[in-house]
This record gives sequence, structure tokens and C-alpha cells, in this order.
Amino acid sequence: MVRFPKSPPATLTLLFLGLALFAILYLVIYPNDLQLQSLIAVCHSPSSSPVPLDPITPKPDFRLLLGILTLPDHYERRHLLRLVYSLQQRQHDLTAQVDVRFVFCRLTKEDQRVLVALEIMRYADIIILNCTENMNQGKTYAYYASLPSLFGGDGETRYDFVAKADDDIYFRLPKLIESLNKMPREDLYYGFVIPCTSMDPFRDYMSGMGYVVSWDLVEWIATSEIARNNTEGPEDMMTGKWLHWGGKGKNRYNTKYAMYDYPIPVPIDECSHDFAPETIAVHRLKDNMKWARALQYLNVTDGLKPSKLIYHI
Ligand SMILES: *[C@@H]1O[C@H](CO)[C@@H](O)[C@H](O)[C@H]1NC(C)=O
Ligand SMILES: *[C@@H]1O[C@H](CO)[C@@H](O)[C@H](O)[C@H]1NC(C)=O
Ligand SMILES: *[C@@H]1O[C@H](CO)[C@@H](O)[C@H](O)[C@H]1NC(C)=O
Repeated sequence: MVRFPKSPPATLTLLFLGLALFAILYLVIYPNDLQLQSLIAVCHSPSSSPVPLDPITPKPDFRLLLGILTLPDHYERRHLLRLVYSLQQRQHDLTAQVDVRFVFCRLTKEDQRVLVALEIMRYADIIILNCTENMNQGKTYAYYASLPSLFGGDGETRYDFVAKADDDIYFRLPKLIESLNKMPREDLYYGFVIPCTSMDPFRDYMSGMGYVVSWDLVEWIATSEIARNNTEGPEDMMTGKWLHWGGKGKNRYNTKYAMYDYPIPVPIDECSHDFAPETIAVHRLKDNMKWARALQYLNVTDGLKPSKLIYHI
């Protein structure tokens, strides 16, 4: 049988001495804790000015959700897009927060359930909507309609802008940010005006290659009967119609000629032209060669550092 000894007075004294020593050491090591407490007290008094809590991460100019509508089986394209966008985030000091997300409808195949799950575990950048995969039967509506419940809520974490992009377009994020910084944060409909020859953003709609709306319009689309009743049709055209019928999108901006279709091999219509230095985005990058040529023109690999491991590139 184990017997616990009663604490004699000497043990108690030692215990108190130990505690006192610990307290002294704590004050020596963390002297600022006392200041922190007085700061908190100051913060509560109404006359004080706010104390910035985290000076290391400055507040972004704005928050943009860049939703790339793609298909579950486009593994290789997602790999490339993750590369080009994560490199941009690393190479440039982006002043805005840009969250790139891949958007598709419910998975339908056994291999997808495992392979897409792996991607989600590694990258957490996939949004699976409750819809069946389709081009023109409401996928874009399902995208917008899902966003307020996924990302809504108040202030701090809400997006300012939401983009819908194809998976064959490359955005230069610094240029996009520079351009969006000049835009109103409300009632904004921003993109490449259709038809190709038009420069009038109020006439028709923005090409589905990649367009941006402000968050208030996302909330409106998600709740409007006008949108809910008219989900079928070419998605970019329908978005234009919803906004037109709803009297929305008072602020419109046409990104021509900084957005354009890839010239294959020369400009084939009024939507395409030669590469240009002021490029915000190049579209119709349908294969790796087109990606390579566009990225090369835009000097994306200029940052490649010399290394013993690179024999020839
Ligand atoms: C997904 O959509 C189907 C068909 O519209 C509906 O029956 C189901 O309840 C939805 N599931 C969720 C989780 O919302
Ligand atoms: C949407 O459809 C419903 C059912 O058909 C109809 O009652 C309603 O008036 C329509 N709303 C609009 C704005 O067209
Ligand atoms: C790419 O780099 C070259 C050489 O430095 C420069 O002349 C050109 O303007 C750059 N192109 C772009 C799109 O920045």
C-alpha cells in the first residue's frame, strides 16, 4: 500500500520560495507583459487612439476572389495555373489579397474522388459546387449564388471583388491590381467588352474569358429572382442580361486592349491582337505552347537564377 506523506511546514516554505522565484524570473524574461496590460487598459478608454495590432501584415488594398471555372479532370491545367499564380505572389509584392480558387460542379468519377481529394488536402484551393457539370446551364449562377454563404459575413474577411475566369486565361496580377485599385468598389462590372469590335461597356456584356464584379453585385445575383429565373444560356451573356434587367452595374470598365485573345498565329479576329507591354490578361491559351509563348513574352522566367544544376534551358 502506497502512503502519501503529509506536507510538513518545510515543504510548504520551499513551495512558496519556488513560486516567488518563478514570478521574479517571469518578470525579468517578459517585462513587456505589464506594459501590454496597461495598453489594453488604455484601449478600453474611449479617448485613446487605436493601437495597430499587427504591423507586419499591412491591410491589403482590397481582397479579390479569382474563381477559375474548370473541370475536375483538368489536373495538368490546374498544376500550371497554381505554378504561375503562386510564382506571381512570390515574385511581386502584391498590395492586394488575391485568392485563386478552382471551381467545378460535383465529382462524378471514382478517380476524381481520390485525386481531387489529394489536391484539396495539399492546396485547399478548390470549390465544389452543388451542380452537374455544364457549360451554359447555370454553373456561373451556381458559383455566384454560393459565395455569400461561403464568404459573406461582416467586413474584415469579405471579398471586395469577385472574378469569374476561364482556365485558359493568364492574368498578370500586379497589372490587374493596379487597374482594380482605380475602380469603384460598388456596382462594378469590369472586363473585356463583347462584341469584339465594341468599346462600349454599356451595350452588351463582358466576355467570359475573365470578368470582375464588386461584392454587392455578387450578393444581388445570389438573391435576385431575375438571375434565378434565367440561369440558362451563354454564361457571360446571361450575367450581362441580369445586370441589365436589374438596372445594375452602373460602374463599368472596358479592359481593352490590355486584355485580348492569343494571336494564333496572327490575330484572327477583332478580339485578338499581338502581345502588348500593358497586358493585364491573355486569353485562349489552349495548349502548353501558347502558355509558353505568352509567358515568355511577358518575361515570366526572367527571375530564373543561374545554377550548376541547369545545363541548358
Ligand atoms: C444539391 O442539389 C440537389 C439537387 O438540386 C439537392 O437535392 C440537394 O439537397 C443539394 N445538396 C446540398 C448539400 O445542398
Ligand atoms: C420568376 O419566376 C417565378 C415563377 O415562374 C415568377 O413567379 C416570378 O415572377 C419570376 N420573377 C421575375 C423577376 O421574373
Ligand atoms: C521583357 O524584357 C525585355 C528586356 O528587358 C524588355 O525590353 C520588355 O519590355 C519586357 N517585356 C515586358 C512585357 O515587360
